[in-house]
Amino acid sequence: MTATTEFSDRMLSLGLARVSEAAAIACASLIGRGDEKSADQAAVDAMRKELNKLDIQGVVVIGEGERDEAPMLYIGEEVGTGHGPAVDIALDPLEGTTLTAKDMPNALAVIAMGPRGSMLHAPDVYMDKLAIGPGFKRGAVTLAMSPSERVSALASAKGCSTRDVTVCVLERPRHEEMIAEIRSTGAAIRLITDGDVAGVMHCADPARTGIDMYMGSGGAPEGVLAAAALKCMGGQIFGKLLFRNEDERARARKAGITNFDRVYTRDDLVTGDVIFAATGVTDGSLLPGIKREIGFITAETILMRSKTGSVRRMSYRNPAN
Ligand code: FBP
Repeated sequence: MTATTEFSDRMLSLGLARVSEAAAIACASLIGRGDEKSADQAAVDAMRKELNKLDIQGVVVIGEGERDEAPMLYIGEEVGTGHGPAVDIALDPLEGTTLTAKDMPNALAVIAMGPRGSMLHAPDVYMDKLAIGPGFKRGAVTLAMSPSERVSALASAKGCSTRDVTVCVLERPRHEEMIAEIRSTGAAIRLITDGDVAGVMHCADPARTGIDMYMGSGGAPEGVLAAAALKCMGGQIFGKLLFRNEDERARARKAGITNFDRVYTRDDLVTGDVIFAATGVTDGSLLPGIKREIGFITAETILMRSKTGSVRRMSYRNPAN
């Protein structure tokens, strides 16, 4: 039977969940073993193998790196059976390699898919990010505001004190000033050591995670993945590419970016409808991690579609090989 060439997000979504499940399960035996490289490789191999079973004409637009840097799932790599809809894919087989190696919370296997041209081809540079959850008017907070202004603006939009706001920030020396400014407002900070896709996703479900806002710089590719998640879950994200040198500007030019000062909104980062799947690798506030019992392995996945805003949580249990 010939596969349809229309992007049927409903039909493809279960296939996408299988892809993130496979990546997470593949690195299960490497959780807490102090070996980032092997864990990442296992996730990459498994994700690619499972992706190649899907009836899609897929192209990796956010991947493991440029072709000369990554042997697999590199940017521009074609994946899928070659039959079916033309789709763009953003992926991070193991978001939080260090978290996995150290068995720390919130490592995820992550993938998003949409019709061709639906996601920004973000270069591998840093991005200044700001995100909040759903239910606020557009621009309730902006990147142009200082960190303390953002906290105050969110507190007044929520109708609470700044002391009732919790901000998630990557713990990095480059964020020290920002952290001090946020603290001066009385707001709380949840510091994370890695994994800002999960960091941003936390904002979309504050009742579960306790996080209201994400801010700070991290990978631009992770910014696109986070935008895909928020497009499904609701919430706003703003991102501005940050360049440290000419090589990074050249990467951006190669990716087709001409305006280096642009502030991207969620819908600039992800312009079309997408599907998104994330499977927990280590336990976290969004998802439980992989569980290994004698003879069985269990994986928990969040599977979402932006067209409907549906968020499905799925548990997969299978005999372990
Ligand atoms: P890896 O999983 O590739 O190690 O990336 C983890 C991560 O923490 C991302 O979530 C984040 O965007 C980026 O690294 C931050 O980069 P840096 O460690 O250079 O601050």
